[in-house]
Amino acid sequence: MNSKNLFSPILLGDIELKNRIFMSPMTRNRVDQNDVIMNIAATYYSQRADAGLIISEATYVTPGGKVRTSQPGIFNNEQIKAWKNVTDAVHEKGGVMFAQLSHSGRSAIPEYNGGLHPVAPSSIAFNSGSHGSISEKSGAPVIPTALSVPEIRGLINAYRQAAENAKAAGFDGVELHAGNAGLVEQFLHAVSNIRTDEYGGSLERRAKFLLDVIDELIAVFGKSRVGLRLSPHDRLSDQYDADPIYTTTFIAREMDNRGIAYINVLEPYNKFDDYIPYPKDDPETLANIRAHFNGVLIANGGYHLSSGNIAIEDHLVDAIAFARLFLANPDLPYRFKHALPLNQPDPRTFYGNGAEGYLDYPYLAD
Ligand SMILES: Cc1cc2nc3c(=O)[nH]c(=O)nc-3n(C[C@H](O)[C@H](O)[C@H](O)COP(=O)(O)O)c2cc1C
Repeated sequence: MNSKNLFSPILLGDIELKNRIFMSPMTRNRVDQNDVIMNIAATYYSQRADAGLIISEATYVTPGGKVRTSQPGIFNNEQIKAWKNVTDAVHEKGGVMFAQLSHSGRSAIPEYNGGLHPVAPSSIAFNSGSHGSISEKSGAPVIPTALSVPEIRGLINAYRQAAENAKAAGFDGVELHAGNAGLVEQFLHAVSNIRTDEYGGSLERRAKFLLDVIDELIAVFGKSRVGLRLSPHDRLSDQYDADPIYTTTFIAREMDNRGIAYINVLEPYNKFDDYIPYPKDDPETLANIRAHFNGVLIANGGYHLSSGNIAIEDHLVDAIAFARLFLANPDLPYRFKHALPLNQPDPRTFYGNGAEGYLDYPYLAD
């Protein structure tokens, strides 16, 4: 038992955070036709500046890396300028914000990526599911092009440039999105990576892309401003790891050697509801990462006030990232503190509709 709970301050790398109630990354699709984040995002994120840490929605690092139909980018000046408005507004309210850097790999749909064909570690299409790349024109799954090694190096550089851009945009740090069926996870999992070169084969080689990117992010921001997002139990669109304990042990050790600020782990959601049908919860994964990683460990997925406090008090993790509860409750830390009732998230406005369902969730805090 630990005397800390969700309301205890915490040192994240070199930043003192006011609490352990973090805002989980959430794609909200409030972008213009050039994937520039809209001005209303400055209000949305700054409404939530009482979070110990805000992690931005997935922000794609280079053309061709957009997931689904719309997502903000962070690879041109217009996008950087718009993100700067957001981070300024968050900082003005005393918030701390990291950018989640992503690339969708084989999920990318050509029609929404300027006609660019999806790329992946290997030419294996997703067979099914929400994150499959289905051509709008033909209705058929798009078989991705396997990346050459020089192209892989080009993508690693794109992540580095995106980190430089995130810095210019005023973010306090960056989180590498290595979960949710994106490109990094496609490298990591044997089901989507059958390469026989230095980026495929053993786990150590399948993880090389992740490690190379993390090293670039550290080179830009410093180790104490870099985080990693994992979803070891992913089943999104055929993405699947046969041995999450083995994988997370290796990654946790590698991240510990590098001394990054945090690992953010999406657990199966079954504690809360059946938003996505995940397999049964596996409490071993967090304990296992904990055993090999000395940085801040964040859990996410179906947590509430009491379960979040218990996970911290039991020393299982250091902080909790809340997604849907933060989406619907801009003043979530205040509501938690005073045990106040919570607004319910409305899935109809998760991915669009401008200010509706974005800026208008009621506050109880002053
Ligand atoms: C609308 C919405 C958008 C999301 N977008 C992202 C995203 O961009 N990046 C990411 O890593 N996870 C994303 N997620 C997953 C959440 O961060 C989180 O893992 C999930 O909702 C479980 O947490 P919760 O039970 O607190 O909602 C999204 C979830 C929702 C509801």
